[in-house]
Amino acid sequence: MKVSSFLQLAAFGIKTVLFHKKDPILGTVIVTDRCNLSCRHCSVNNITGVIHPYTQIKSEMQQLYGMGVRILFFCGGETFMWKDSGKTIRDLVIEAKEMGFLIVNVVTNGTHPVDLPEADLILLSLDGDKERHNIIRGDTYDTIMNNIEHATSDNICFYMAVNQINKDTIESVCRKAHELNNVRAVSFNFHTPYPDTAELQLSKEEKQTCCNTISRMMDEGMPIFNLKSAFPYLINNTFPTPCWQCVVIENGVLSTCGRCISVPGLCEKCGYFFVAEYTLLFRGNIKIILEMLRTYLKYV
Ligand SMILES: C[S@@+](CC[C@H](N)C(=O)[O-])C[C@H]1O[C@@H](n2cnc3c(N)ncnc32)[C@H](O)[C@@H]1O
Ligand code: SF4
Ligand code: SF4
Repeated sequence: MKVSSFLQLAAFGIKTVLFHKKDPILGTVIVTDRCNLSCRHCSVNNITGVIHPYTQIKSEMQQLYGMGVRILFFCGGETFMWKDSGKTIRDLVIEAKEMGFLIVNVVTNGTHPVDLPEADLILLSLDGDKERHNIIRGDTYDTIMNNIEHATSDNICFYMAVNQINKDTIESVCRKAHELNNVRAVSFNFHTPYPDTAELQLSKEEKQTCCNTISRMMDEGMPIFNLKSAFPYLINNTFPTPCWQCVVIENGVLSTCGRCISVPGLCEKCGYFFVAEYTLLFRGNIKIILEMLRTYLKYV
């Protein structure tokens, strides 16, 4: 991260903590909900199948920038399937950077060739070892590994949603991230139990076991882009929700925190690590602040 970007984000953090502000800093644009996969744990694919037009996405990016958002995520559906007016997801990343966003990340299922050197991080979903990943995501593991090997940049971060199917494969994903040259780190979430996938959620005891494994991996020097100090809050679901500093925009509709805010009762069972990490950060939790500084400077 550039020093100037770091200083801007630090100034935002200090203002937010001192004056209990609720202004957003992290925004997500959903470019489409169309997807080439139909993963067992996912409730947000192929609902409309619409590829949102370039002009609309550009104006959503401008809207977020105008609101003060400086960390931008592109998400889907499958982001690499987005194409309009001769533009691809890569053009959107380049334009977001030109617009002034300080950090621009893309979330992808990794089944398309990875040529996105301009992104700060490519969050590439890997949901376990080959067997478990393929149970969740179809027969895609080998394609993904091939795409990672041939990626044109080393800005990939694995993104793993831990659930009943893959909870015993955390160590394997950490070791894979450590082994692959183009992969910088791995970032975890726990399954967030939408009504149609509630059976995949983890119990408190299972979350504790997973966090013990992640902690042990951190101690062994595996590259993990999460904050250990947030684990007790994630295990017990005692972090504040929603995250007021996070917004998402899909087809012109702006939501605080996530699209999932409209699902009754879901926030109390939220498994997204970023929500715990950001809400605790902006509440001024000193351990989180220090750990976040160390972690972000290492991986972004
Ligand atoms: C919805 S997908 C969109 C981007 C891309 N198609 C992909 O799979 O990475 C974004 C991320 O959300 C995760 N995800 C989907 N449903 C989830 C849930 N109920 N709880 C936690 N993570 C979930 C996916 O595993 C993926 O890492
Ligand atoms: S690839 Fe992503 S959007 Fe598509 S079904 Fe899987 S998790 Fe959902
Ligand atoms: S806190 Fe609620 S709105 Fe935010 S990500 Fe979690 S479930 Fe979704």
